Amino acid sequence: MTRAMFGHGIGSAAPPVPNTDMSAALASLSMPSPVLTASGCAASGRELDQFFDITKIGAIVTKSVMLRPRSGRPTPRMCETPSGMLNSIGLQGPGIEEFIEVDLAWLEARGARTVVSIAGESVDEYGKVAQKLRTVGGADAIEVNISCPNVSDRNQVFACDPEMAANVIQTVRRQSDSQTPIFAKLSPDVTDIAEIARSVVRAGVDGLTVINTALGMVIDLETMRPALAGVTGGLSGPAIRPIALRCVWQIRQALPDIPILGVGGIRTGFDALQFILAGANAVSVGTMTFNDPSAPMRVHNELALALAERGFGSVSEAISYGHRGADIFETAGEGEIELE
Ligand SMILES: Cc1cc2nc3c(=O)[nH]c(=O)nc-3n(C[C@H](O)[C@H](O)[C@H](O)COP(=O)(O)O)c2cc1C
Repeated sequence: MTRAMFGHGIGSAAPPVPNTDMSAALASLSMPSPVLTASGCAASGRELDQFFDITKIGAIVTKSVMLRPRSGRPTPRMCETPSGMLNSIGLQGPGIEEFIEVDLAWLEARGARTVVSIAGESVDEYGKVAQKLRTVGGADAIEVNISCPNVSDRNQVFACDPEMAANVIQTVRRQSDSQTPIFAKLSPDVTDIAEIARSVVRAGVDGLTVINTALGMVIDLETMRPALAGVTGGLSGPAIRPIALRCVWQIRQALPDIPILGVGGIRTGFDALQFILAGANAVSVGTMTFNDPSAPMRVHNELALALAERGFGSVSEAISYGHRGADIFETAGEGEIELE
C-alpha cells in the first residue's frame, strides 16, 4: 500500500496533547480514549504494541473469530483502489478455542481493554462462540459481525435483513453474560440502515458499530478478469468515509440514545472528529493502521488537539454536536432544496 493512497503530511511526530478530557464510554465500557482499533486490521493488538502502548487507546477490537479454524478465501484477496483497498480475506482465523488460549490470554495479561468480534455461518454458530466466551470471561465487550452469509438460509447476509440480524443478536444475548455489552456491526449495503439498527436494538444490543466494509470489485486489465479470486470484496479506507459518516448520522437521528462506534476511512483526528460530531461516541481506526501502525494513538492525539481548537473541554461535549438545529436539514427532503 502506498502513502499516496492516503495523502501527505500524516504520520509525523505527535502534536502536544492539550488538556482535553478524552475519556469515553460505549454502554458500560469506560475507556481513557474514544479511539479503538477496527476488527481485522490489528489482529489481537500484539504487533501494534511495538509501536505504541495499546493500553492507552480505548480498546483493541479483535479480528472476527468463528467456532472453528478457517483458512479464509483463495488468493489474491487484497487489492488497492482509489483512496482505499478491497479485501476478501474471508474470516481467516484460529477458531474460538485457540483464540481464547492465545490471543485473549495475551490481551488480558497485557491489561488492554478488549472488544471481541465474533462471527458465524449460522445463528447457532454465533450462539456457540458467545457461549465459549462466556465460560472464560475476559471480553470487555462483544462486537457481533453480522456481515456474514447465512449458510443455512440462501447465503443471505445477516446484516442485510432486519429479522435475521435480530435472530443473531437474540441468540448472542441469551448466551452472554448480562454484564458484557454487545454491539452489532452493521453493513452499509442496505437501503435503510436505520431499519436494521432499530431491529437489532429491539433484539437487545447495547450499541452499534457503524460500518463494516462496502461490497465492491475491481477488474485487472492485464488478465481482464476480476482482481480478487473471490470476485467481490469489502471496500475500506478513506473512499468509504462519507458513506460511513452518513450511516452514523442517520442512525443517530433515528436512535438518539444508542451508543455508536463509528468506523470507516478514519486516518486523522479531523476525520475522527467528523464522526463524533455526527453522533459517534467513539471511533475505530482500521485500514489506516496498515499504512501507519501507530495511527490509533496518533488519531487520539490529533483529536484531542482538534477538540481543544474548537473550544471543547471533553469528547463527550462534542458527541452529536453536528445535529444541533438538525430539523432544518430534516425538513428539506432529497432534491427539494431550493436554490435561490
Ligand atoms: C483486511 C481487513 C480485514 C477485516 N476484517 C474484519 C473482520 O474480521 N471483522 C469485521 O467485523 N470487520 C472486518 N474488517 C472491516 C473493518 O473492521 C472496518 O469496519 C472497515 O474496514 C472500515 O474501516 P476502515 O476504512 O477504517 O478500514 C476488515 C477490514 C479489512 C481492511
